[in-house]
Amino acid sequence: MRTQVGIVGAGPAGLMLSHLLHRAGIDSVIVENKSREYIEQRVRAGVIEHWAREFLIETQVGARLEREGLIHRGINFAFDGNLREIDFHALVGRVITIYGQQEVVKDLVAARLAAGGAILFEAAETSVQDFDTDRPKIRFTREGRAETIDCDFIAGCDGFHGVCRPSVPGGALAFYDRVYRFGWLGILSQSPPPHEELIYAFHERGFALYSMREPMVSRLYIQCDPDAAADNWPDSKIWEELHLRLGGTAKLVEGEILQKGVTPMRAFVTEPMQYKRLFLAGDAAHIVPPTGAKGMNLAIADVRVLAHALDAFYRERRSDLIDTYSATCLKRVWKAQRFSYWMTMMLHRLNRKNDFDMRRQLAELDYVTSSKAAATSLAENYVGLPFE
Ligand code: PHB
Repeated sequence: MRTQVGIVGAGPAGLMLSHLLHRAGIDSVIVENKSREYIEQRVRAGVIEHWAREFLIETQVGARLEREGLIHRGINFAFDGNLREIDFHALVGRVITIYGQQEVVKDLVAARLAAGGAILFEAAETSVQDFDTDRPKIRFTREGRAETIDCDFIAGCDGFHGVCRPSVPGGALAFYDRVYRFGWLGILSQSPPPHEELIYAFHERGFALYSMREPMVSRLYIQCDPDAAADNWPDSKIWEELHLRLGGTAKLVEGEILQKGVTPMRAFVTEPMQYKRLFLAGDAAHIVPPTGAKGMNLAIADVRVLAHALDAFYRERRSDLIDTYSATCLKRVWKAQRFSYWMTMMLHRLNRKNDFDMRRQLAELDYVTSSKAAATSLAENYVGLPFE
């Protein structure tokens, strides 16, 4: 098999890259180790930044998002018995859209397949080779047969645990990471959310988030131990914590729990995001804690830069944008890390033995929800920083 860009991973980064390349007349093949059903059901965050919504619509994969996505003008903070809104629309004239990541994945898979795109699902033993030459290869087995894709470039869009990043020779990349001492227990529930917009709640028992997918489907999270097993959390205990952490600021209706899982919190950045003819994009290159809902948005931002750079390469034989791919992306990535870190440290219970941080966090929440300057800073980061 031969293609121009070999892509490892059919998540938002790999699928969107393949879609953008196709629009630029560049061939690609996606190799994915999971099944189509699996990637289309995988529950992740669901906040789409303002520019990302426009970008999906402009590139013709936003029709269902436009119909079904819920536009939110702002978010709310619950703390100390208060419920306070940050109105993004009033502050910065932009909004966010609530639309599950797996819905974006479904739309992109459908668009790629309708255009005759190749997505090779259930590939096993995938490896990337020779990306230090101009003839890189992706090798894998499928239905018991060994296969090779010859390409000009490889895009590693295979997530934090993928094979691409560890294939780069030792010492060529620097890694920066931060592990948080807590995780999020997330549920999907057949019930209306307590409020029409998101509520981020700070409580002495820990953080909680009240989000949604559809008018009758809520997505709810509570701060938990990072090693906690979701099965050790009976439904009744989850609801009890969700009620307590709202602190009486809104009324929560219980429903059937459709899905339950624990996400550890981690921050991670690879520098650079490229090694010769191998590019890393999305979670393969960086992880942010979910408190700012930046993960998928960063993945889409990376491949937007990468598709543009590859287009300039094939169309005009220019390699300057390829050479600056990593630096361009990292500027945005580090600002998203900063924002996600700040949101995380403002909203989680950090130390149960010492209340200093708790008093400081309550002051910070009061400040951010009452100062127009502070609220505007939060708003411009949450809706997505502009591109340079
Ligand atoms: C979600 O809806 O799943 C969600 C929303 C906001 C976040 C994280 C997750 O910060």
